[in-house]
Amino acid sequence: MKSQFGKKLKVLLVENNLVDRKVIIKMLSTSPYGHFDPKFASSLVEAFELLPKHKFDVVLLDLNVDDSKGLETLKKFHRRFPHLPVVVNTGSYQDDLGLKAITKGAQDYLIKGMYKSYSLVKSLYYAVERKRVEEELKNAYNKLQQTQIQLIQAEKMNVIGGLASGVAHEVKNPLATILYGVEYLENSLKTSDEKIVLTLDSIQEAAKSANNIIKGLLDFASLTNLKKTPENINTLIDQAIHLTRPQCERVSVHLEKNLQNDLPLIKIDRNRIQQVIVDLIVNAIYAMNNGGRLMIRTYGKKFSDQDVGWIDRRGRSFGQGDDVVVVDFEDTGPGIKDEYLIKIFDPFFTTRRAAGGIGLGLSIARTIMNSHGGIISLHNKTGGGARARLIFKANKKEPV
Ligand SMILES: Nc1ncnc2c1ncn2[C@@H]1O[C@H](COP(=O)(O)OP(=O)(O)OP(=O)(O)O)[C@@H](O)[C@H]1O
Ligand SMILES: [Mg+2]
Repeated sequence: MKSQFGKKLKVLLVENNLVDRKVIIKMLSTSPYGHFDPKFASSLVEAFELLPKHKFDVVLLDLNVDDSKGLETLKKFHRRFPHLPVVVNTGSYQDDLGLKAITKGAQDYLIKGMYKSYSLVKSLYYAVERKRVEEELKNAYNKLQQTQIQLIQAEKMNVIGGLASGVAHEVKNPLATILYGVEYLENSLKTSDEKIVLTLDSIQEAAKSANNIIKGLLDFASLTNLKKTPENINTLIDQAIHLTRPQCERVSVHLEKNLQNDLPLIKIDRNRIQQVIVDLIVNAIYAMNNGGRLMIRTYGKKFSDQDVGWIDRRGRSFGQGDDVVVVDFEDTGPGIKDEYLIKIFDPFFTTRRAAGGIGLGLSIARTIMNSHGGIISLHNKTGGGARARLIFKANKKEPV
């Protein structure tokens, strides 16, 4: 990035000593090295009032002002305005304090009476540049941390996916044998012994529920043969609502929809995406088993990175500014506990184990969305409840 030296700087001088103020003003106004637009405050309260009203580039901060003394002044300042460059202006012979100020977030310090115009000007420009580099470094560090977590997550999913399909294949055939065997026994025994009938029934039930888990696992691992056709997502939503309406009515969940009319088409495997939509509706219904409201909304927009959290970005086939179709499912349930947010997409993570939850719904949904180059995310809403979001790349309109 280009150096800012010489650019006009908007400076806030937090200084309650009138003589010191005059000296600084003189130095700034007569300097041939830079251009300044200074404003003044005698106290932190005054400074905090001025700061939101102007776009300051840098602050020259006396640590002893009307309403605060010493390093506490810098700490209070930094808490309120962590992104603003600060040069601390301390009393004579206070290098120790100046250096401490650097460790507490100041970009530079000056000792009153020990500097001339050039050093003051240089220090102000230096603080602006140093802060910019610090922020860039901080952002790069955050990005690195996020990428590391994504890599660990991706690796975890690979291992679990491989393991799951291996186990599923091994268990599928013995299970089928058990199911056929029980059916055969039931038909050929034709006994009225209640104990035998009950035992056979419970074996059949257990084997069926194990079979459902296996089916889910195989689903999870076999998403290669997708039949993608251009579809209007609204049609799929209407069908999914129709399928889940009885479940909604049973627990008094009021389902509302707000679907944009002229949505662009998206290229999807309709059965797979239908499965994702049904899973999200069913999850919301389970979360609101004492009644509530589920709002399903569709809309087209230009994609922005702010639409999703960082963790949801893998495999997407669109970027900043591309046309996308979004589907939001907003419920009025209890939302998701913070400590669970990182786990909900893991295979077999469920908080509904006792009620028959397997914990595969979201992980399969994410695999399906990834294989469409789309994104799925699930967040708590600020006002309470959860919001699941699907984002698809919009098909380009064919020229007519
Ligand atoms: N809308 C929601 N509100 C609150 N929690 C949710 C919501 N959707 C999902 N969850 C949480 O995420 C967990 C995982 O969801 P997922 O769909 O993967 O599994 P499940 O619904 O528990 O079981 P199943 O395999 O039958 O879908 C749920 O157990 C629940 O704790
Ligand atoms: Mg589910």
